[in-house]
Amino acid sequence: METESVDAVLTDPPYSTGGTYAAQRQRPPSEKYQDHDVKTKRSSFTGDNRDQRSFITWATLWLTECHRVTKEGGSCMMFTDWRQLPAMSDALQAGGWVWRNIVVWHKPSARPICGEFTRQCEFVLFGVKDRLARSHRRCLPGVYTQSIVAHQRRMHLTEKPIPLLEALLEVTPPGATILDPFMGSATTGAACQNTGRKFIGIELSPDYFKIAKTRLKAPTN
Ligand SMILES: C[S@@+](CC[C@H](N)C(=O)[O-])C[C@H]1O[C@@H](n2cnc3c(N)ncnc32)[C@H](O)[C@@H]1O
Repeated sequence: METESVDAVLTDPPYSTGGTYAAQRQRPPSEKYQDHDVKTKRSSFTGDNRDQRSFITWATLWLTECHRVTKEGGSCMMFTDWRQLPAMSDALQAGGWVWRNIVVWHKPSARPICGEFTRQCEFVLFGVKDRLARSHRRCLPGVYTQSIVAHQRRMHLTEKPIPLLEALLEVTPPGATILDPFMGSATTGAACQNTGRKFIGIELSPDYFKIAKTRLKAPTN
């Protein structure tokens, strides 16, 4: 891709998470992120079982590329969970981004954990290339409450909700070009279509690439 050719990166990379110990994390995503009794099984995907050191190195490599292809003043929004938050904030900065915030996605329907704190949030790390080129003067929230996509309606194992992505895109200018290098079922693409942004998506899995293409041809609500 050309240098300085997109306005923002909005992405949900493989988390390489899903267990306290290495052996649990190395299970395929179809086991880690899907209940065994779910009726419609979704395809697995690759890149989700790196050990911690190679995960940070790998993330730094692609975040550096994302930084190169983003215009000065552009931004990067990247999903992660509580376990990988420290690794990803390191990789974001090692990739050249100026770390500006952690936006919280509060999931009201998270499964309670007996005798412990419920893991009720995922996070969106927000970084900018130099200084954010602001396109409006509205004040955006730092916490978004949004239910997860019901398992029976999911196109991807780890699908993110479209309304959440639409809300995040408010930090980008209308008509902006948005890159998602891990597009999965193209939820970011659908949010871009709904909000008048242009979209570039990259996906390694042929199954999900096909789903993404079909989804982006269809109306997205
Ligand atoms: C967490 S999922 C994204 C899900 C997406 N947000 C959605 O709502 O459908 C990450 C995706 O990245 C893809 N992926 C993994 N490694 C990749 C790579 N090196 N290049 C491009 N895509 C990759 C996986 O196949 C997977 O679909």
